[in-house]
Amino acid sequence: MKETATKRFSLDGKVAVITGAAGMLGYHSTCTFAEAGADVALVDLPVCMARTEELAREISEKYGVKARAYGADLTDEKAVDEMFRKIADEMGTVDIVHSNAGVGGARTPDYETPLSDWMRVINGNLVTMFLVDTAACRIMIRDGHGGSIINTCSMGGSCVMQGPTYSTFDNSSYGTSKAAGLYFTKSLASQVIKYGIRVNSISPGHITPKDGGQLDDDSMDKATVETWSISQPIKRTCDVEELMGGLLYLASDASTYCVGTDLLIDGGHTLW
Ligand SMILES: NC(=O)c1ccc[n+]([C@@H]2O[C@H](COP(=O)([O-])OP(=O)(O)OC[C@H]3O[C@@H](n4cnc5c(N)ncnc54)[C@H](O)[C@@H]3O)[C@@H](O)[C@H]2O)c1
Repeated sequence: MKETATKRFSLDGKVAVITGAAGMLGYHSTCTFAEAGADVALVDLPVCMARTEELAREISEKYGVKARAYGADLTDEKAVDEMFRKIADEMGTVDIVHSNAGVGGARTPDYETPLSDWMRVINGNLVTMFLVDTAACRIMIRDGHGGSIINTCSMGGSCVMQGPTYSTFDNSSYGTSKAAGLYFTKSLASQVIKYGIRVNSISPGHITPKDGGQLDDDSMDKATVETWSISQPIKRTCDVEELMGGLLYLASDASTYCVGTDLLIDGGHTLW
């Protein structure tokens, strides 16, 4: 163990894979891991490849680490396995994985939601997590050095989220996928700790990105932001930077006794 608490947050010499790296939270966690010294593999959908490559270049220049872009649809088992093999070949190995790619919930009430919409969310959030985490574990076990996997879950896995008119925010697809992600995290953690692999999760409350981009998305309209700004204890939404300390903690040797832990960072939303 490194000698001081602050030194244990260093990611020097580690290789970190971040999924959904062209999106808001994934981009910020990639920058945080790179700033802490890790080489980073940025993963996102093949259609986002130009942006992912641009971000990889920017991060490499800014932090002086190796940063490479990879495109894969993480609902595709074969694509995920091939991508992890390629990352391990090109980057040396895989030490840290932020399994973070995800999609928003279907917006119709459950009793009107076609199965295909409901399954799109389960596949996009839960199946991607299963495929990414298990592919990463196989590489970490093969290379024999343990590792840290962090799943992005959500406060929506612990409560039914409130909407702007004091109704429910969406149907059960998103919350079910995230609640199942919390269970999956704990179950996998118990299976792979014997290989020195720690699996944990982070459950953010609602994040307002600095550029305001997410407000254009109907999953985070103005009325929702206003409702949450008056109805949760902290009376505001989360700045993405407020999640970075927790992510770095779980990624690094600062959290070596965390196994299947969920870090719920929600401004108190789930207290009421
Ligand atoms: N934004 C919030 O308020 C909030 C709150 C709690 C949890 N989360 C979770 O945080 C994670 C990141 O969310 P975000 O707000 O940064 O969203 P985002 O839309 O900005 O980023 C998600 C990224 O995942 C990628 N992606 C989606 N499906 C994929 C697939 N099948 N294969 C490869 N890449 C795929 C997208 O292309 C996108 O770049 C998600 O899991 C989300 O559920 C977000």
